[in-house]
Amino acid sequence: MSTMLIKNGRVLDPSENLDGELDLYIVDGVISDIGKGLEANADETIDATGKLVVPGLIDIHVHLREPGGEAKETIKTGSRSAAAGGFTTVCCMPNTNPVLDSATGVNYVRAVAARDSLINVHPIAAVTKGQLGKEITEFGDLRFHGAVAFSDDGMPVYDAEIMRLALEYTAMLNMPIMNHSEIPELVGEGVAHHGRVAMKLGLRGVPRAAETASVARDIELAAETGGHVHICHVSTARACELIAEAKQRGIRVTAEVTPHHLLLTDQAIETFSTMARVAPPLRGAEDRDALRQALRNGTLDCIATDHAPHTDIEKNVPFQEAPPGMIGLDFSWALMYHEMVGAGVLTLSELVARMTIEPAKVLNLSGGSLAKGRNADVTIIDLEGTTQITRETIKSKSCNTPFLGKQYSSKIETTIVKGRVVYSNGQCTKLEAISHP
Ligand code: NCD
Repeated sequence: MSTMLIKNGRVLDPSENLDGELDLYIVDGVISDIGKGLEANADETIDATGKLVVPGLIDIHVHLREPGGEAKETIKTGSRSAAAGGFTTVCCMPNTNPVLDSATGVNYVRAVAARDSLINVHPIAAVTKGQLGKEITEFGDLRFHGAVAFSDDGMPVYDAEIMRLALEYTAMLNMPIMNHSEIPELVGEGVAHHGRVAMKLGLRGVPRAAETASVARDIELAAETGGHVHICHVSTARACELIAEAKQRGIRVTAEVTPHHLLLTDQAIETFSTMARVAPPLRGAEDRDALRQALRNGTLDCIATDHAPHTDIEKNVPFQEAPPGMIGLDFSWALMYHEMVGAGVLTLSELVARMTIEPAKVLNLSGGSLAKGRNADVTIIDLEGTTQITRETIKSKSCNTPFLGKQYSSKIETTIVKGRVVYSNGQCTKLEAISHP
């Protein structure tokens, strides 16, 4: 039997309505007791005085690039980046090479994660074979082998009839289709938000309707089939209105927003910085403000980083030629705490909910809570600390972020997965020291 006691921290768990100075007692990787001044002998005691203790953070949208993209990231390096960022669970997208569209692919990711990962990694499988948009994958089989959702992310599910069928089948499995909702003809050769900045820079634009028209289609198909559609990385004010209305009508739609769409506008590309090229593109201030409101009022269910690593070589090219995407796992907590709680957009408890229990609910995951009997996935945060975003501090294999060189308040102190410390004070624990129970 192994035991751990986390003492005197401010335990904040929105799923259990907990906020107070409490102790957490962990037995064999499971939360066994939670209360004031627990008297317990433990193999390991962590003094969390003055620190925030929350359920391990959950990110339902990351790209770990393995197999096929190991120059950008691996499951090993991505899991280190996640652990350093306070994440204990991530769900990885299937736009790998080969695409995760078979039991073999899903099993491969799970096997590599069991060997190499510090944290929980759940694969998301493709909606269509090869993500080619023609033929749907074996949803039941993929679920059996551990897929937690389906997505062709990187590309939308283009064919409306394929989307309708996919929603009809996954409704029976009670699993979501996570759609990268954009109309390809409207994206065209676009690389930036269709607005004044793109016009000034001479860049092709992506109109808002690329997203909004697709979101409207997805909502209608979810209504028709009773399926659950999850809209990935929402970027427009109008999409928020459509989602809010659909939720009111009782349609099974959920949605996520990224830290970069909450913080940045298309002004970030004014210097042609490829670090700020992302899909969907960074939009105008009115969109950014609407996303903040929608996150606050629950129209947008959760924050997801869309951690999308790319190498320096790939990003050191003219703007139009750079692959879209930016990393986020290492430092998204600090960005969100500093900017969202700091600016009064979210309360601390709302922020924790949108990075723990709310994403867990979207995908029916068991984490996001410190309730007794749950796996002891716990993150300890120093709200007085600071997070520096530098090439030296980033644990991801890639450093493609427009936030490089910046500093934000608060700091992830310790990350615990199933009762084992996987990250503490800037250092990831060596894999050999963590036997997987
Ligand atoms: C994603 C990636 O790099 O895999 N990039 C991004 O800008 N979000 C794929 C995608 O959604 O385009």
